Amino acid sequence: MKRILITGASGFLGSHLYKVFNGDYVVFGTYYTQTITVGNFIRLNLEDKDEIFRVLSEIKPSYVIHNAAVSNPDKAETDKETAKKVNLESTKVIVNWCHRNKAKLCFISTDQVFDGKSSYYKETDPVNPVNYYGITKVKAEKIVLEGENNAIFRMALMYGRSAFRQYYKPEWIWGDFSRRKKIKVFVDQYRSVLCVNNAAELVKKAIDIDFSGILHLGGPKRISRYEMAKAICRYRGISTDLLEPVRHGQVDLLAPRPQDVSLDISKAKSVLKIPIFSINESLRRYL
Ligand SMILES: NC(=O)c1ccc[n+]([C@@H]2O[C@H](COP(=O)([O-])OP(=O)(O)OC[C@H]3O[C@@H](n4cnc5c(N)ncnc54)[C@H](OP(=O)(O)O)[C@@H]3O)[C@@H](O)[C@H]2O)c1
Repeated sequence: MKRILITGASGFLGSHLYKVFNGDYVVFGTYYTQTITVGNFIRLNLEDKDEIFRVLSEIKPSYVIHNAAVSNPDKAETDKETAKKVNLESTKVIVNWCHRNKAKLCFISTDQVFDGKSSYYKETDPVNPVNYYGITKVKAEKIVLEGENNAIFRMALMYGRSAFRQYYKPEWIWGDFSRRKKIKVFVDQYRSVLCVNNAAELVKKAIDIDFSGILHLGGPKRISRYEMAKAICRYRGISTDLLEPVRHGQVDLLAPRPQDVSLDISKAKSVLKIPIFSINESLRRYL
């Protein structure tokens, strides 16, 4: 069986990636602060280049899914040094190791490489990030594409439950509503939201068929954050009255957010040929 290393397998998407690959591949996952005690897990600090090199050389994977990141745009904006090391510098080390050892690198990127001024972005559309998180991902993508067999999966906003620890994302909509405090939700920020379980299945299929190049992985339809929140509230049996619709620009965030980074997923549909579920179907199916 082929050996695969997944960075950030303790995180939200990483935990599902670990689960879907396990059995068909010999899977190794890395964690940093959230110790995982089941399976093949190794601690890895991506800020330490020697440690990255040592872990890769010990495991000798044929595939690396570089999924770990400073994934919160506000955190990346306020601690640029760490975001640069984790999202960009670590990618350079992994690209080099993979190149020298003939391993395939699959890089988990984001819809936030786009500026959000358009809609339904294609893989060939020009990137133009509006925040530091997006900048680190764009720079890392360029390095990843130096290896011709490498792959980049640009993920849309994902929702659902972590596979290892009992928490849900996005936190603001799955949180404790018992205090009945209103939540401000954007009515005019659009995403191709995708359930994290479905996301992991799509990445697995892409790797199974040895996809290389850039692939957009998102849900079948562009919806606003407000529509997403309403669907999750309905699923949870919570009144949607607690959602306060606000417009982009009415709320100050530490990092700017692109307005509409919905993804055109026609390439994913034609090459992967597995179902991509809407939010209502996914909530029924996976949660
Ligand atoms: N969530 C989304 O909606 C979304 C949308 C588009 C793209 N993405 C991309 O998808 C990937 C996964 O996102 P996620 O939401 O699953 O993120 P997450 O839950 O925040 O997980 C991040 C992972 O990275 C690890 N990590 C962070 N700093 C590290 C460091 N210095 N050294 C080693 N590992 C480190 C964390 O380890 P510990 O927790 O053990 O510290 C964790 O396993 C990221 O590349 C993100 O950019 C996510």
